Amino acid sequence: MELAGFLGVTMLWVKAAHVIFVIFLMAGLFMMPRFFVYHHQCPVGSDEDKKWIEREDRLRRIILNPSIVIVWILGLMLAFSGGYWSEGWFHAKLLLVLGLSGYHGWLIGYFKKLKRGERPLSEKRLRLLNEVPGVVAAIVVVLAVVRPF
Ligand code: HEM
Repeated sequence: MELAGFLGVTMLWVKAAHVIFVIFLMAGLFMMPRFFVYHHQCPVGSDEDKKWIEREDRLRRIILNPSIVIVWILGLMLAFSGGYWSEGWFHAKLLLVLGLSGYHGWLIGYFKKLKRGERPLSEKRLRLLNEVPGVVAAIVVVLAVVRPF
């Protein structure tokens, strides 16, 4: 087993933690637009509306935001330790995880709109949008594990 990099054996623990928090992050990224779909179905200002705002806020504060910070910190530690900066798979992965982080930011922005009583997108669009992070995550995993280039 290759244990290259200055983190040595610790790198395996860092990598395990990275993947664990990736799971939490992805769970949050899949749940939030689902919540939005349900949220869209209740009238602005209703009790249900307030409950969904509360649920979305908790998902944001407890799952999404802490996970993305931890995933980035651990991912960058792995990158520095392994010295992958000139490798193609890592460039592609970085590009895609930047995209996922942008999507994360967009979700938080959409939550704030819902909180203000705005409903900019249709339910159908929200459902369609929810397919994107799954496909991106699948490609990221293949890049990180198979490293095809
Ligand atoms: C957000 C910024 C991220 C950075 C900087 C990053 C960086 C890295 C690096 C450098 C490795 C290689 C560790 C090694 O074997 O030496 C790695 C492993 C891995 N990453 Fe990330 N990552 C990030 C986000 C993600 C995301 C969003 C996913 C999944 C959707 C993901 C999934 C994985 C998996 C599955 C591995 C294990 C690969 C293996 O050991 O075979 N990472 N990450």
